[in-house]
Amino acid sequence: MRRPMVAGNWKMNGTRASVAELVESLRMQVLPADIEIAVFPSAVHVSQVLDGVDGEHVAVGTQDCAAQNGFGALTGEVSAEQFADFGCKWVLVGHSERRLLLGETDEVVSRKFSAAQVGGLKPVLCLGETLEERRAGKTLEVVGRQLARVLDDRGVAAFESAVIAYEPVWAIGSGLTATPEQAQEVHAAIREQLSRHDGRIAEGVRLLYGGSVKAENAAELFAMADIDGGLVGGASLKADEFGAICRAA
Ligand code: G3H
Repeated sequence: MRRPMVAGNWKMNGTRASVAELVESLRMQVLPADIEIAVFPSAVHVSQVLDGVDGEHVAVGTQDCAAQNGFGALTGEVSAEQFADFGCKWVLVGHSERRLLLGETDEVVSRKFSAAQVGGLKPVLCLGETLEERRAGKTLEVVGRQLARVLDDRGVAAFESAVIAYEPVWAIGSGLTATPEQAQEVHAAIREQLSRHDGRIAEGVRLLYGGSVKAENAAELFAMADIDGGLVGGASLKADEFGAICRAA
């Protein structure tokens, strides 16, 4: 039985004041104890959020980490070890905004996945196709290629302490959610690809759906056999709505 997970990616949002408000509102939410919940503030707010949330209940992750481990001369980068030292538990790796807008290749994503695990963070590996790729019938090929790179480099055992998020790029921030059936089809293919390496690990890996998840559509998405929760962007900035999504998982 996989424990559901709901993750809130706050992206490049928030000021000290608005983050304090959001954390306070999250503390007021009744959040289910039987699911895993994590929020991903921007790097400058990680410490503030760690101090503010009830860490027993809500873990904190970071939206990115360096592809290099440890400490040293790498201006502007923050290593997994540095985030872990603060108390971060998770890191997003391969988010489409980083792949498409910041040029992160499958190779860089794979290196960051490894750096995260070596440095003490659990990666949430994000996969997803663009609208163009979906229209060309290439969804499973693209997602399969993105996953294969990490699987080939890191081995299937690395997925015992990782989560995968399927996020169709066309559904992110667009208000267009994949139908539960569209998402399920890709999730099943991801699990099948993992099972070709190791059936037990494939059954245990949590697969989150991301892309315009809201309180109103969360329950039907999370009801699908291979959807184990969500990676929520915009709606995670509203504590009430994020709480409702958590309660739907
Ligand atoms: O990481 C989260 C995703 O990019 C989804 O964002 O819920 O605003 O569509 P969204």
